[in-house]
Amino acid sequence: MKNEKRAGGRRGADPSSGSSRLTGRGRMRRNVPVALAERSYEVEIGQDWLETIGRRIVDRVGSDRFALVTVPPVARRHAPILTRGLKARGAHVRRIVVPDGDATKNLTELGKLYDRFLDAGMDRQSAVISLGGGVVGDLGGFAAATFLRGISFVQVPTTVLAMVDASIGGKTGVNLPRGKNLVGAFHQPRGVYLDVATLRSLPPRQRSAGMAELIKAAAIWDAGFFDWLEPRIEAFLRLDPKVVIPALERGCGIKAEIVARDEREGGLRRLLNFGHTLAHAIEAHANFRGILHGEAVAIGMVFAAERSEALGFAPAGTRSRLESVLERAGLPTRPPSRPRRAYLSAIAVDKKKEGSRIHFVVSRGIGRAQTALLAPREILPPGWKA
Ligand SMILES: NC(=O)c1ccc[n+]([C@@H]2O[C@H](COP(=O)([O-])OP(=O)(O)OC[C@H]3O[C@@H](n4cnc5c(N)ncnc54)[C@H](O)[C@@H]3O)[C@@H](O)[C@H]2O)c1
Ligand SMILES: [Zn+2]
Repeated sequence: MKNEKRAGGRRGADPSSGSSRLTGRGRMRRNVPVALAERSYEVEIGQDWLETIGRRIVDRVGSDRFALVTVPPVARRHAPILTRGLKARGAHVRRIVVPDGDATKNLTELGKLYDRFLDAGMDRQSAVISLGGGVVGDLGGFAAATFLRGISFVQVPTTVLAMVDASIGGKTGVNLPRGKNLVGAFHQPRGVYLDVATLRSLPPRQRSAGMAELIKAAAIWDAGFFDWLEPRIEAFLRLDPKVVIPALERGCGIKAEIVARDEREGGLRRLLNFGHTLAHAIEAHANFRGILHGEAVAIGMVFAAERSEALGFAPAGTRSRLESVLERAGLPTRPPSRPRRAYLSAIAVDKKKEGSRIHFVVSRGIGRAQTALLAPREILPPGWKA
């Protein structure tokens, strides 16, 4: 067993005391910088401000032609408001609605997007906006990364998962029939705009799944934030703005800090895979149906915390604390019952592996994590049972 980079245990500031601006109508706005030299941008967080977001995007990107890539549930409810803002600044907007679901992240849909871009007369000065969850973020982002060798891209995430995770950091891509996210590019957005009001229409199960990634961020990086979030899980799920806005701000801040220090996944960014080794195995077994990614991550984190305690990385009690927070967030915590060898072969195909060993993210207690290079049988020891 070899220990690698350590990290975590950063300051524990109270997120609700962060810097905020009150807007004209007394609403809160928060900005989170993503510091990537000349590719820097900000995550701007607010509430009931989609139309303003439209105007801000035009001002920021300086384009007059946009493709707005979205999915039916979001197109219906939220796209018209964003479009109004874009048009108020004189922009041409082509709305492109792609089918819902992860299966849409494929090369055929990508090809259709390019056609629609050409139909809309898009050129190198045009820009793509993804409005929706991580699926349209990844698909629209990859289309923007590659169309005419790369045009500007903006993220307007409308799921918790996309807000705190997928929209930040510039990873874009599509799936291949043989696996998820096998084709992609790094293409940083020019801006990320969150309207927490869009979460009102997000089904509760999707809210919970997104919370898994938020809890993950706290668990690997910021014990103080974990302490703050722990008693506020229910308030987050009911979308109390006094909780949701500061929680998203800190969640985005953690992702931004990690990405700023390791844009292309040299090591630190791997910590974001906490819980993901087992999660990927669970998702693969389920054929990516019936279980949401965040749900698989919740199970994977409890497993990783349990293994971290057993291997001596984390103090006793780490797993139980994490588990009770995840349960309160409405998430599953126990792996589906399958033979150990089924799990072993699934984790052995993990693309984060190096030789026969895997970069497994272990907890060092709440708020701290590191990677350890482990053989599959060290991760799933003989006698382990799902
Ligand atoms: N690029 C990255 O760094 C990164 C990181 C994590 C995940 N991802 C990718 O993100 C994807 C998962 O993202 P996701 O969980 O957001 O899934 P998703 O995009 O499929 O959205 C989940 C569901 O919610 C619906 N929806 C979205 N916003 C809504 C709203 N406001 N109201 C009502 N319904 C709404 C969608 O139509 C969909 O049915 C995966 O493809 C994953 O690979 C990418
Ligand atoms: Zn994830």
